[in-house]
Amino acid sequence: MKQYRVGVVGATGMVGQRFVSLLENHPWFHLAAVAASPRSAGKTYEEAVGSRWAMPTPMPEQAKKLVVLNAADVEAVAAQVDFVFCAVDMKKEEIKALEETYAKAECPVVSNNSAHRFTPDVPMVVPEINADHIAIIESQRRRLGTKRGFVAVKSNCSLQSYVPALHPLMEDFGVSKCLVCTYQAISGAGKTFETWPEMVDNCIPYIGGEEEKSEKEPLKLWGHIENDQIVPATSPAITAQCLRIPVSDGHMAAVFVSFDKKPTKEQILEKWASFSGEAQRLQLPSAPKQFLHYFEEDNRPQTKLDRNLENGMAVSIGRLREDTQYDYKFVCLSHNTLRGAAGGGVLLAELLAAKGYLD
Ligand SMILES: NC(=O)c1ccc[n+]([C@@H]2O[C@H](COP(=O)([O-])OP(=O)(O)OC[C@H]3O[C@@H](n4cnc5c(N)ncnc54)[C@H](OP(=O)(O)O)[C@@H]3O)[C@@H](O)[C@H]2O)c1
Repeated sequence: MKQYRVGVVGATGMVGQRFVSLLENHPWFHLAAVAASPRSAGKTYEEAVGSRWAMPTPMPEQAKKLVVLNAADVEAVAAQVDFVFCAVDMKKEEIKALEETYAKAECPVVSNNSAHRFTPDVPMVVPEINADHIAIIESQRRRLGTKRGFVAVKSNCSLQSYVPALHPLMEDFGVSKCLVCTYQAISGAGKTFETWPEMVDNCIPYIGGEEEKSEKEPLKLWGHIENDQIVPATSPAITAQCLRIPVSDGHMAAVFVSFDKKPTKEQILEKWASFSGEAQRLQLPSAPKQFLHYFEEDNRPQTKLDRNLENGMAVSIGRLREDTQYDYKFVCLSHNTLRGAAGGGVLLAELLAAKGYLD
């Protein structure tokens, strides 16, 4: 496989650090540039991150000595890389403009940010679910006037557990409605217990914008390409409540679901066990071998025990049972900064590379 030089824009942040960690020893991608705000620019990566390093593994030696570039200096970053990952904490309009500037500089952008998720010709992709949406990139390139450059995004971390669980059930049984309550880790806000001590022994019943994303983004994932845009699906109806809870990593979801044609419990378990997507068919380096794992034990999945399953790229499901108001209920878990953020971004980039979009 071809080797690619990669930049991380927002490399000093929580998601950026994950990208830097995941790129260490990646078989196709080599970290060639790091960029962040003017506050970090000009320092070595090690100096700029300092005590903010929040990863469980040490900072990669190769990254330590890289000099952080100013993310706004697009030409300088683009000249050193074949594409960038982007995860920055800026205003939505600023992020949209920054990402399009990289694309117009013929530098593809694989983004963790929400700014472009609803731009109609920007694919929002979970490689196991809607890999076919990357075909919209040709329309986007025509709009931007680029040959190589484009923006592709991954979806929000909150939905990375329940959308994969519902997806294999849609075709045969038709999911009609879904109620979901998410229990989300503090790293989803870019925080640790050191930087957010108020979260110890606490639960906050509000995460700005999260419920809207949790209800709306799945419909784009289940949409289709028509006339140079992705047209979102119109069903199932999803209602969500999102809570911040005192765990470091791992978003849990409690899900209630009804079907057009109610399956048996065995049929659901069989669909989960046999499900695989384009990421598995292409044997992408970061793809979990078994995407959906079902636990028979009543007290699983547990955040601490199960979030790192298959390097944090698999989804854990448990407690499937019939419900009195909906057809079924179950719980599911995914790692929010791995599958839900940087890991999902790396997997998307692997899909784009395998399909020739980064050449
Ligand atoms: N954390 C998660 O689990 C998660 C999941 C999915 C998506 N996301 C999204 O990913 C993005 C980053 O999240 P995060 O949690 O990593 O945030 P974070 O830890 O606060 O990091 C923010 C990054 O943005 C950079 N930045 C801030 N202002 C900038 C500017 N004006 N120009 C260039 N760079 C600037 C920071 O650089 P300095 O260090 O120089 O300030 C830092 O590298 C957000 O859009 C977030 O919504 C996060």
